[in-house]
Amino acid sequence: MSHPTGPIWDAIGGISRFAALATMAELRCADELAAGPLSTEELAARCGAHAPSLRRVLRELASMGVVRPVGEDRFELTEHGHTMRSDVPDSVRSAVRMIAEKGFWYAMGNLPTTVRQGRSAFAEKFGPLYRYLADNPDSSRIFDDYMTARATPFARAVAERYDFSAARTMVDVAGGKGHILAEVLRANPRLRGILFDLEHVVPAAAEFMRSQGLEDRCEVVSGDFFREVPQDGDVYLLASILHNWDDADGIRILRNVRSAMARDGRLLVLEMVLPDEDVPHVGKDMDMRMLAIFDGGTERTRAEYSVLLEKSGFTLAQVIPLTAGAGLIEALPH
Ligand SMILES: C[S@@+](CC[C@H](N)C(=O)[O-])C[C@H]1O[C@@H](n2cnc3c(N)ncnc32)[C@H](O)[C@@H]1O
Repeated sequence: MSHPTGPIWDAIGGISRFAALATMAELRCADELAAGPLSTEELAARCGAHAPSLRRVLRELASMGVVRPVGEDRFELTEHGHTMRSDVPDSVRSAVRMIAEKGFWYAMGNLPTTVRQGRSAFAEKFGPLYRYLADNPDSSRIFDDYMTARATPFARAVAERYDFSAARTMVDVAGGKGHILAEVLRANPRLRGILFDLEHVVPAAAEFMRSQGLEDRCEVVSGDFFREVPQDGDVYLLASILHNWDDADGIRILRNVRSAMARDGRLLVLEMVLPDEDVPHVGKDMDMRMLAIFDGGTERTRAEYSVLLEKSGFTLAQVIPLTAGAGLIEALPH
């Protein structure tokens, strides 16, 4: 049996291991190592780093199995290390950069204050996240890259596991750049799309749809989902939206979707669905971030989503499990 302090020391060590990963991500070490092994001096020169300091970070990364030593003071990427490159399909570099981003780091470090006062210390200092992102273009780019990386496996799973054959128009409410919508449109050639998001987000979304050759099948619309969302879609998607808001705001968003949708419309909610049991779950880690960053942001169980949907004019029909703890909740208007 492990020592009672084992999990605690492991979590404390996790901060150092994460900081080593954040350094690797920020300095683009994995991109520089992509073509093969380099000496610490060579890598430091390419990454603009101080070699003796980088050597210590590489030792920590080697202990984590992210790089491995090959000969005297030379390192190469392992299979895990390659996922830290920026140019691979399942790259986690942007996820590491997002958690290390100065506002997010502040939010996590100030979680005790947030819990003591019941209000996000991050929001108190920087304002609501989406305003902070609008005011900080560098952070906004990191956030976009992170959401894209996160959405990629979800997008594939949604397109594969949900039957869109009867749908005519799908509205991706607060769809970000539109990765999920693009994947669904590609898999369903007769479907049309409307991507809806805040004004500062839609230019990148329009550009992304053009880059995918989908501009003729997808309208890009800006607006505020607390006011209204585009009318007459028959499938509405809310992906990673409701967990940013408390129940009162969630109900406002859902009611706006309910009143905009066609009579035979369907709502899809893609979120982490927390298990009822007391077991480790990636959604519980995500919930700490929601607690730290948003006033009222929260992950929810299936039963909690069911209540939220009922109060907003929907009935939960089914939950389709996706990857990485996420579920696709289908709800029908009542
Ligand atoms: C967590 S991201 C999810 C993006 C996308 N659905 C996905 O799964 O990748 C939340 C999105 O909500 C958008 N958003 C925030 N407040 C909004 C508002 N009041 N009206 C419309 N969109 C909003 C943000 O710009 C952001 O793109």
